[in-house]
Amino acid sequence: MIESDFFSDPYSNLPKQGKVAWKAPSNIALVKYWGKLAHQIPANPSISFTLDACATTTSMAFGKKEESSDTFSFDLLFEGKPKEDFKPKIQTFFERIDAYVPFLKEYHLVIETSNSFPHSSGIASSASGMAALSLCIMDIEKQMNPDMDEVFFNKKASFLARLGSGSACRSIEGDLIQWGTHKNIPESSNLYGIKYPFEVHPLFKNYHDTILLVHKGQKQVSSTVGHELMHGHPFAENRFQQAHENLDALKAVFASGDVEEFIKIVESEALTLHAMMMTSMPYFILMKPDTLEIINKIWAYRSENHVPICFTLDAGANVHVLYPESVKEKAIQFIQDELVEHCEKGHYICDRIGQGARKIQ
Ligand code: PMV
Repeated sequence: MIESDFFSDPYSNLPKQGKVAWKAPSNIALVKYWGKLAHQIPANPSISFTLDACATTTSMAFGKKEESSDTFSFDLLFEGKPKEDFKPKIQTFFERIDAYVPFLKEYHLVIETSNSFPHSSGIASSASGMAALSLCIMDIEKQMNPDMDEVFFNKKASFLARLGSGSACRSIEGDLIQWGTHKNIPESSNLYGIKYPFEVHPLFKNYHDTILLVHKGQKQVSSTVGHELMHGHPFAENRFQQAHENLDALKAVFASGDVEEFIKIVESEALTLHAMMMTSMPYFILMKPDTLEIINKIWAYRSENHVPICFTLDAGANVHVLYPESVKEKAIQFIQDELVEHCEKGHYICDRIGQGARKIQ
């Protein structure tokens, strides 16, 4: 599909008012997206596990304006209270998606949003937040166009979410989502995420992700700035090429359930992401001493006990500890005994692979 496929059909039957609500999960990338072109087009393809517990719930009440106007009109409540400082981001998002959902300007919207995870946990809410918002908008569009099928609904929701925050396009469906054109992945697209189209061993169907909250404060460098620094980065082209190769390598890994190869690719991806940050100009480091302590303890534990526990990192200091269901008890014991002491206030979140967003009735 191409961009113009997402322009909405002319509409005549605008509902007068209503309310829709969706809960969308976060996701954790295995092959990382880092670097982008104009209009949120990724510089390389990526793949992620959709999460389950870490999610944003958003409702959107819409009422037709008395008179048409060419501006967006909305109130925003975060965890029940007006949140003025979130509004510019949403205004920018609405401007980016205007051409695809022109009906939005016909309404005054009241958006209420909340996260399942603590606000200042250092977990980015932009993926789940933009996904939930996009699904609410698509739900309104579907009321005007009831014949819209689920496949298009999800694709366009992912397409819109991408324009809010790139990785948000991987937070619509579960459980393994690929985004970005790749020559060996049929139907892959830079415009939206797709369900991973190849065989996936049951081992990877119920993976766990325990998120260790190492540093809950604001990041020194935002993802937006980080992506930007990949322009003119001395290693950028090799890095983008490597992401393509890692996606190729993962095909056999997912099919066979080869957890050792999985670990090599996933940990290398995490460290490469941070290596790109450290070799940007200006350079920066988002890991903290405790991030490295945790990584070293995971490596020591894995080699001593032959338990397939590994880590990945987002653009921050928190560590995502990944492990299959079969070693759950051992992994939790190890995390409690050795890793929790490196978490801020001992906080961590037990999450697992999930099946995607759902409508709240
Ligand atoms: O979606 P953004 O612009 O916040 O970028 C997210 C980038 C990473 O989380 C670091 C990697 C990824 O693929 O999710």
